[in-house]
Amino acid sequence: MSSAFRDFEHAGWESVVAEYDNAFGRLTTQAIEPLLDSVGAGHGTRLLDIGTGPGYVAAAAAKRGAIVTGVDFSAPMVAEAKQKHPAIEFREGDADALPFPEASFDAVVMNFGMLHLARPDQAMSEACRVLRVGGRFGFTVWAKPVETAGFGITLGAIPAHGDMNVALPEGPPFFRFSDWDECVRSLLQAGFVDPQVKKIPQTWRLSSPDSLFEAMQTATVRTAGLLRRQTPQALKGIRGMMANASRLYEKNGVFELPMPAILASAVKP
Ligand SMILES: C[S@@+](CC[C@H](N)C(=O)[O-])C[C@H]1O[C@@H](n2cnc3c(N)ncnc32)[C@H](O)[C@@H]1O
Repeated sequence: MSSAFRDFEHAGWESVVAEYDNAFGRLTTQAIEPLLDSVGAGHGTRLLDIGTGPGYVAAAAAKRGAIVTGVDFSAPMVAEAKQKHPAIEFREGDADALPFPEASFDAVVMNFGMLHLARPDQAMSEACRVLRVGGRFGFTVWAKPVETAGFGITLGAIPAHGDMNVALPEGPPFFRFSDWDECVRSLLQAGFVDPQVKKIPQTWRLSSPDSLFEAMQTATVRTAGLLRRQTPQALKGIRGMMANASRLYEKNGVFELPMPAILASAVKP
C-alpha cells in the first residue's frame, strides 16, 4: 500500500505548487515561530526543514541566523523554494530516506508534512538519525476536524452529498498525529526522549464563501483526490454546503476559519 500512496502524494505535490502557496501560505506560516522555538532554532543552529514546500520555515529559520537546509520530494517545490530564497540550500529528498549522514543537524523540523507521508514512523527514525545527540525534532499537523473548521466543514459535506468510500490509494490516517498520546508514543518509539505536545491557534482568512471548496479542490492532494472522485451532482451539493457553512464564520466580509495545529517535539538522547 505504501508505494501506491507515496506515488499518489508525490504526483500531487509535483502539480500544486502555486495553488498551495496561494491557498495555504498564509495559514501554515502561522505555526512557524512556535515550531522554531520548540527546537531552539537560533543563530548558528544547523537546521533541516523536511517537506519544506515553498521554503516558508527554512526562510524564517535563516532569518534567525540558523544554517538551513530544506528538503522536499517534489522537484517543482524545490525549484520554487530555490527561486524564492536563493541564499538557502534546498535539495530533493524523501523524508523516509534522508540524503544526509547521521548527526548532521542540531534541529530538524517538519511543518504539516507528517500527515502526507506513507511511512511516518520511518521518517521519525530518519529525523532522529540525522540529529546530533541533544538535538531537537519538532513537527506540526492539523488538529482534529472537530477543531479545524476547514476540515470539519469539508469532511461533513462529502458524506452528506457524496461518497467517502471512493477508491484512493490507501495511506496512514490523515489525523493520526492530531492525537497527543499518539505523538508521544510515536516519538518515544522512534528513539526520542522528553516528548512535548501543544496546540497552536491559527486562523484561515478566506475571501469568499467558495474559497474553502476551491482551496481543497485545487491546492491539496488527498482531499482533492476525494473530491475529484465524486459525481458532478454530488460535487455541486458538497460545494453549496461548504459555502453555507463558511458563511457562519464571516466577520466584516472575511471568512475566518479556526485551523489550530498540534505541535510535537522531542530530544535525541
Ligand atoms: C502540506 S505541504 C507543507 C509545506 C510547508 N512545510 C509549509 O509549511 O507549508 C507538504 C510538503 O511535504 C512534501 N512531502 C510530502 N511527502 C514527502 C516525503 N515523503 N518526503 C519529502 N517531502 C515530502 C510535499 O512535497 C510538500 O511540499
